[in-house]
Amino acid sequence: GVAAKIAPSMLSSDFANLASEAERMLKCGADWLHMDIMDGHFVPNLTLGAPVIQSLRKHTKAYLDCHLMVTNPLDYVEPMGKAGASGFTFHVEVSKDNWQELVQRIKSKGMTPGVALKPGTPIEEVYPLIEGENCVEMVLVMTVEPGFGGQKFMPEMMEKVRTLRQRYPSLDIEVDGGLGPSTIDAAASAGANCIVAGSSVFGAPEPATVISLLRSSVEG
Ligand code: DX5
Ligand code: ZN
Repeated sequence: GVAAKIAPSMLSSDFANLASEAERMLKCGADWLHMDIMDGHFVPNLTLGAPVIQSLRKHTKAYLDCHLMVTNPLDYVEPMGKAGASGFTFHVEVSKDNWQELVQRIKSKGMTPGVALKPGTPIEEVYPLIEGENCVEMVLVMTVEPGFGGQKFMPEMMEKVRTLRQRYPSLDIEVDGGLGPSTIDAAASAGANCIVAGSSVFGAPEPATVISLLRSSVEG
């Protein structure tokens, strides 16, 4: 199978202690750190942007898996690249006309391109971005409406994951929203290999236990 990547969502961390929270998650076994970038427009919430990524980058070498919930992702490519982002995942809903340019620029800044889709967006909409000339390396299937942590996992999204996994056996498929011990088996058996988890990891008395449980479910 495809390697498991467990990515705690730093949205559930104490932002005032971001560097130590990141360090704590890595010690607990995290592969990636999931960073939720929001603009208060694409989603009704505002979090952090390139300046915070740049500050965090000074404290860690970790893979920063950046999820751009913004209306104009193209505007973020250069600043995020300079700041030290590792993955740059934009939303398909706002990139229908310029995804090729977007992917090309993301790669030229040394970042790994990914595409995300909201629960209401059909999976077919990402096929061209996976098969195209400048293709993405990861698809993020949202399992909640983007904007906030702590929401309930939408099991009906697993159909999208299954369909994607059948078509693309070696693609990185990420799920984001409501993942934890009670929902991981549904996601893993559908074929997801990159697992974002915010409240289930940060809310646990022992995050390391949750992270290893998520990993063993994916790795089987
Ligand atoms: C929601 C974000 C998620 C969020 C997940 O818009 O994209 O990354 O932090 O949090 P949980 O795991 O609590 O649903
Ligand atoms: Zn996210």
